[in-house]
Amino acid sequence: MIDRIIEIAKQAGKFLKENEGKIIEINEKGSFTNLVTNVDRGSEVMIKEFIAKNFPEHGILAEESGASLPLSEYKWIIDPLDGTTNFTHAFPVYCVSIGVERKGEVVAGAVYDPNFDELFSAEKGSGSFLNGRRLKVTLSNTLERSMLATGFPYDIKHNPFNCIQHFEAFLTRAQAVRRLGSAALDICYVAAGRLDGFWEVNLHPWDTAAAALIANEAGAKVTGFHGEKYSIYQRDIVLSNGLIHDEMIEVLRQNL
Ligand code: IPD
Ligand code: CA
Ligand code: CA
Repeated sequence: MIDRIIEIAKQAGKFLKENEGKIIEINEKGSFTNLVTNVDRGSEVMIKEFIAKNFPEHGILAEESGASLPLSEYKWIIDPLDGTTNFTHAFPVYCVSIGVERKGEVVAGAVYDPNFDELFSAEKGSGSFLNGRRLKVTLSNTLERSMLATGFPYDIKHNPFNCIQHFEAFLTRAQAVRRLGSAALDICYVAAGRLDGFWEVNLHPWDTAAAALIANEAGAKVTGFHGEKYSIYQRDIVLSNGLIHDEMIEVLRQNL
């Protein structure tokens, strides 16, 4: 199955790249910060058609169209374009994310970045890979020597749990904090050892399904803000190389 996931993730990623700068329609999803374009929708249709043709018995949960029948032990969880705001500005940090759940557990996934032609992938229990090279998290063991990333929720103006306090706290505790604009890539970058940790609130299953498996398989620790076991159906996530996890949880706890 992983080969088929990779095949369609790359196909959809190529479609995104070809359409960069050629967006026909941009709509707001409830606020001027939360956008969807015809390219998000086109990518999602392409992926869903691929699944219908190759795995007609599988279920789907996709960002722009929601859950589709049939009910099956397999569910494809799709973000057809993670980083839409970046994409609308032709800012080249975005990707396609596809995870597959079996009986409620993510067992395979791929995240494809068409700008760098980088394909992150994993199958449960078999490690994770970037263009075929095995991934491993960093060995940085203090927050002071760590580079982190985060993102902010679309309802940042009204949401008291909007991450700004955490951001401020980490800015003075970590070596550096980045905001890339694609949660799936942020998480894959922890897997690839380009970042030491990541946290965010208000994420959805399609943002994290593939990437959290990829991070896990690279040795990352993935939890909720209280250090509890992470589920892709919860909104908050903290992940790290494991060595700085307690320090990250402590900073979040002090600023909850
Ligand atoms: C968003 C991106 C962003 C994160 C947002 C997500 P989208 O996904 O991953 O980095 O901060 O919370 O919703 O809307 O571009 O698919
Ligand atoms: Ca997303
Ligand atoms: Ca999206």
